[in-house]
Amino acid sequence: MRDEDKTRAQLLEELAALRRELDDLQAYADPEWRRQEKWRQNFRQLQEMLEGVVAVLGCRVPDLIEHQRRVTHLACAIAEEMGLSTAQIESLAIAGMVHDIGKVFIPLKILNKSGALDPAEMALIQAHPRAAHYILKDLDFDRPVAEIIVQHHERLDGSGYPGGLAGEDILLEARILAVPDVVEAMAYARPHRVNLGINTALEEISRNRGTLYDPEVVDACLRLFDRGFDFL
Ligand SMILES: [Fe+2]
Repeated sequence: MRDEDKTRAQLLEELAALRRELDDLQAYADPEWRRQEKWRQNFRQLQEMLEGVVAVLGCRVPDLIEHQRRVTHLACAIAEEMGLSTAQIESLAIAGMVHDIGKVFIPLKILNKSGALDPAEMALIQAHPRAAHYILKDLDFDRPVAEIIVQHHERLDGSGYPGGLAGEDILLEARILAVPDVVEAMAYARPHRVNLGINTALEEISRNRGTLYDPEVVDACLRLFDRGFDFL
């Protein structure tokens, strides 16, 4: 149909559609919009890929989903307190929500065992960061999410696992994730560990500040609890 044959309403509707297209083009030119769009894509991609795995994990170890959620909440609060960038905080949010996904490979009787673990069982538990890395390594994230996860049990003095990395060889986001992981695990009961309470957990990170745990991360965590932080 030629423009002169169109009604006023049709022309107005076409004009509105053109304006919407122009708005979309302008939005796409905005780096912040593109970053947020990439973030939304990351989450959709993650959800699709991990839905099945997380569901299996959640059925096997319901506590684990809650553990990951609480750890993520505190990790993001610490990152914000330390002034990390939005992109770093977003990558921590993704890493936190799936950081123990590698436990899907660990036999249920070991995961739910009450009492001490023998060396072979401990070795299986300690394989979970590499297993998570294996699951996540090919996902296209802006930040190295799989690396953050594989390093979340590394310790500042090199005594952690699986790589025995030390100091700044450990990614900052992994040094952050390590602290809420320990605090949450101590503050909430596990099959093989009683609930020691939040005060004992905070004493643990204070005592090992600068040896096992990054001092800046510990300080940020303690400041948050001083100001009344609570796990949601
Ligand atoms: Fe873990």
